[in-house]
Amino acid sequence: MAMLLGACALLPGASGAAPVAEGLVIAPGAALVTRHCTVCHGARLVMQNRADRGGWLSMIRWMQETQGLWPLGDAEAPILDYLAEHYGPQPAGRRAPLPPSLLPGD
Ligand code: HEC
Repeated sequence: MAMLLGACALLPGASGAAPVAEGLVIAPGAALVTRHCTVCHGARLVMQNRADRGGWLSMIRWMQETQGLWPLGDAEAPILDYLAEHYGPQPAGRRAPLPPSLLPGD
């Protein structure tokens, strides 16, 4: 007689959202940044900085060469995308983007 045990499918993504360090913009890549970039110093040090993609890449290379940061592998591209997008250079005269918590929900 067939048993139906195990027939209940787990909903993908329904459990255990990856943690994001307090204060980081919640967006794709935030969990990777939390995992790789808040080990030696806090997320605040990351958030205080602004750079374009190349600038972030050179900070990462500097930490890899001198501070023991590990190779980021597949995480490097999404981390750079996230940092360049949310912690990119701020053009003069333009206010900082509103944090997601202040944006209207839909
Ligand atoms: C293996 C340890 C380590 C890891 C992991 C690490 N860092 Fe760092 N990082 C450092 C050290 C050490 C400094 C220098 C801290 C200081 O000056 O107080 C630093 C400094 C920085 C700074 C400041 C640079 C400046 O010019 O002032 C930024 C921004 C930064 N890290 C971003 C990151 C990001 C983004 C990641 C993830 C990709 C990361 N860090 C992961 C060790 C690390």
